[in-house]
Amino acid sequence: METMPPLKDQDMPFLSEVEYNSTPFDRQTNAGPPGTGKTVTAATVVYHIVKQTKGRVLACAPSNIAADNLAEKIARTGLKVVRVSAQRRDLKESTVPSIELQNQIQGRDPILDQLIKKKEKSGWLQEQDYKLMNKIKFGLEIEILNKADVICCTCSTAACKTISMLKPMDHQQFQCVLIDESTQAMEPETIIPIMKGAQKVVLIGDHKQLGPTIMSRKADGFGLSKSLFERLVEAGHEYFQLEEQYRMHPAISSFPRKVFYEGLLQDGITHGQ
Ligand SMILES: Nc1ncnc2c1ncn2[C@@H]1O[C@H](COP(=O)(O)OP(=O)(O)OP(=O)(O)O)[C@@H](O)[C@H]1O
Ligand SMILES: [Mg+2]
Repeated sequence: METMPPLKDQDMPFLSEVEYNSTPFDRQTNAGPPGTGKTVTAATVVYHIVKQTKGRVLACAPSNIAADNLAEKIARTGLKVVRVSAQRRDLKESTVPSIELQNQIQGRDPILDQLIKKKEKSGWLQEQDYKLMNKIKFGLEIEILNKADVICCTCSTAACKTISMLKPMDHQQFQCVLIDESTQAMEPETIIPIMKGAQKVVLIGDHKQLGPTIMSRKADGFGLSKSLFERLVEAGHEYFQLEEQYRMHPAISSFPRKVFYEGLLQDGITHGQ
């Protein structure tokens, strides 16, 4: 387990709000160029919110890769994280198989294990067996998710039945909904986890990197290429900017520093590192 540094109020203004619970609903945005530690910061924020409030957090990202990455970093804090992937996803692609919900339900109920094996072997199940398998699965999924500190999934999977059926804590499903890489999500996609209901919404991303991928010109015309994050920034919503990057060699970071970030991007690593 990694120890998480305490975040100071001046560094993370939204944490003091969580602590004092001053607003019934609020949103905070956190921006930063690549490699400045946005996802590490997201994990730290989630850790402190869970420790302070004893509440549950829904941590999302628009893609499976980003959701795995976020889940992995939060799990390193020692919190109980469950990664919920869509049923159709091939879990061999997951970089966090040990915390995948579909893997965690296995080995807990001999009848379920038998039915899963049977389905894998023959490719199908009789209707009665299929219904029984889903009933046992659903019960176990709910049981595991109700014990989790953090549920991690893509924005669209946040709409799944299992997450919707969770027992509310203090009259709400989540203490906080956090969305990493939110500048790459379409606005309606971002709304899915937010609609689950939370005391606090934290959006993380970089509105100077690529926005959401929109193939349809018509959809583009309706404004879907603009993320909720970008729209909030344009509307004058304040955001917290990380400026020190730890991934690129200074020779590489000099170009984006000059062209995209008005000289504000600093290097947290030196030429020799
Ligand atoms: N405060 C820090 N001190 C040293 N290294 C750090 C710090 N914060 C993050 N890092 C390291 O920098 C790298 C990038 O961190 P992270 O993935 O959180 O960045 P990011 O801003 O989310 O990047 P991206 O824009 O690609 O999503 C990681 O290897 C991480 O361990
Ligand atoms: Mg990141």
